[in-house]
Amino acid sequence: MSAAKEFELPSMPTLCVDEHCAFVARASESADTLEHALTEHLRLSGIYWGVCAVYTLGRLDRTFDRAKKEEILSYVDSCRNENGSYGGGVGHDGHVLYTLSAVQIYALFDELSRIDVEAVVGFLSSMQLSNGSFQGDHWGEIDTRFTYCALSALRLLGRLDAVDVDKACAYINSCKNFDGGFGAEPGGESHAGQVFTCVGALAIGGRLDYVDGDLLGWWLAERQVKVGGLNGRPEKLPDVCYSWWVLSSLSVLGKTHWIDRAALARFILKCQDEKSGGISDRPDDEPDVYHTFFGIAGLALMGHPAVVEPIDPVFALPKSVLRRMGIELSGTG
Ligand code: FPP
Ligand code: ZN
Repeated sequence: MSAAKEFELPSMPTLCVDEHCAFVARASESADTLEHALTEHLRLSGIYWGVCAVYTLGRLDRTFDRAKKEEILSYVDSCRNENGSYGGGVGHDGHVLYTLSAVQIYALFDELSRIDVEAVVGFLSSMQLSNGSFQGDHWGEIDTRFTYCALSALRLLGRLDAVDVDKACAYINSCKNFDGGFGAEPGGESHAGQVFTCVGALAIGGRLDYVDGDLLGWWLAERQVKVGGLNGRPEKLPDVCYSWWVLSSLSVLGKTHWIDRAALARFILKCQDEKSGGISDRPDDEPDVYHTFFGIAGLALMGHPAVVEPIDPVFALPKSVLRRMGIELSGTG
């Protein structure tokens, strides 16, 4: 049976679209809560998760009216630093991670003209080191996540020419392991989150030939556990966010059928809070915007009919947004 047909079975829980949109809207208002204070450092990424979630559900305009949209965009503008980088919150040090989130938010709202492209490109290219790797900020931490963030943001801005893409991809290749997976640095343990970033970076750089598709596909498929959910590494508990990290990588490799998609969809849908909205990491945990987005994005990759805007597995943005920007789409297997 095709993955999409599985969603029509009476045994498949319904995706609570209205409730999830209300959950995201509430999260964007809750400036006085403890959670808000605790997550201040990653506010820009939180906005990207929430906005992208409602966009994929076809509810962007209904969830954020013009005034709210302007409030969000002004907030993003205010996270910009003099060197062209964006911090996770106002007055925070700039970081490639939040710089990508800012570009993604502007792209989702079709407001890319608010970006000082040369300044952003200047910051991102200054983060590349002579061995091809990227540091995340001026403090110098190096991680394959940062290579992905830089290449993705630069590709979205049409400025990949500003960095050494060949060297960046060769560095990613040096982080490949015997199991076909990738780690955060050379010799680092394979981790599905890092696999997403490395496969994504190689896809953007046009060097997917560095990937051993069968070996990595096997390692990724092994991430599915008995209850249907996916974990990030062997022996770990399943977690809804890995529906994205694993499935997007399988999608780029054209191998989403290597896992039991109906079982994964059931697991994600069991993690919904059907009354208050939101999706949690595991059934009965507290929902948050991060797992809400990655749960919905995972369902999008499986063709869930209520997720009306298909999502690109490399850029983690709706295909319609990329199409609007004239960006070639990645494969979705
Ligand atoms: C697991 O994190 C996930 C990763 C290591 C990948 C993170 C990828 C990015 C930040 C790049 C930007 C992403 C997108 C979608 C545009 P974790 O800390 O939850 O790992 P754990 O499960 O081991 O705790
Ligand atoms: Zn998680």
